[in-house]
Amino acid sequence: MNSPFSRIGVVGAGAMGRGIVQLYAQCGHAVVLYDAHEPAVDAAIAHLRDTFGKLAEKGRITPEQAAAAMGHIAPAASLQDFAGCDLIIEAIVERLDVKREMFIALEEIVGPDCVLASNTSSLSITAIAAACEHPGRVAGYHFFNPVPLMKVVEVVQGPRTASAVVDRLVELSRIAGHTPVVCQDTPGFIVNHAGRGFGPESLRVLHEGVAEVPVVDRLLREQVDIGGQGFKLGPFELMDLTGLDISHPVMESIYHQYYEEPRYKPSVIGAQRVAAGMYGRKTGEGFYRHAGGAQQTPA
Ligand code: NAI
Repeated sequence: MNSPFSRIGVVGAGAMGRGIVQLYAQCGHAVVLYDAHEPAVDAAIAHLRDTFGKLAEKGRITPEQAAAAMGHIAPAASLQDFAGCDLIIEAIVERLDVKREMFIALEEIVGPDCVLASNTSSLSITAIAAACEHPGRVAGYHFFNPVPLMKVVEVVQGPRTASAVVDRLVELSRIAGHTPVVCQDTPGFIVNHAGRGFGPESLRVLHEGVAEVPVVDRLLREQVDIGGQGFKLGPFELMDLTGLDISHPVMESIYHQYYEEPRYKPSVIGAQRVAAGMYGRKTGEGFYRHAGGAQQTPA
């Protein structure tokens, strides 16, 4: 394998961090995983072992490949363990101040050529890079959930991102079998900008009492024809998968970055559900109730 990166650090062992680790460990990269909440790293590694085991049971990979992938993954006890990395992918909480602090801390640890990439869904790559001493090394690297299955990744170029950094991320994505799409840094990039008509608009449909949650989901999943089939998930099912703790701040962030553009206004329904802790699958209750991973009645 002739990869542009030899050692990849992943910060954040949540849904996205785990998926990114799986993707790159599976195609032979050494990956180091860190999370501020230490048990999250152990939980992610246990989850990855289980995932590789299941893939081997199903015959998708050999037991040797599963063992090799696990062998590529190392837990990090602190950010210092990223010292030898040439790429760090950040997948922590969707807050600009926290991400900027993280990038400042990373720059003190890694070498001058290490690329720093953020998996942010909506925040300004330019604003994250502006906190850094070397903004040319900072890019957006926006995967979708679940990472190994969603084959598209946005490679986001800010005004100061070096073209060589974009090229290296594009090449890395292709090695992992993903399709990279390069775009300029704007709020929500391509997918989460265009997607305003899906999630936020469906919340408006709900708010206006036009139709109930399962009706909207079923319609968009089964009846809307996009190339011979509907969307894989309805908008409320997707929000439950992503987690409203992620989706709602993304809606707020895009709205504010576009100077309170009315058509991007987030829904009070979302705000209320976040306040109630009804995030979706991760809390067992969102727009649906989820027991043991299965989607049940609307909540
Ligand atoms: P998550 O909530 O599942 O995981 C975030 C992890 O980051 C947690 O384990 C938390 O302990 C850790 N963390 C938080 N602050 C930290 C810090 N300062 N230092 C180190 N670790 C820290 O979140 P998820 O869903 O994995 O999202 C992460 C990022 O990826 C967010 O920026 C989100 O917008 C983005 N994203 C999420 C997608 C989704 O569908 N969930 C899709 C695409 C991007």
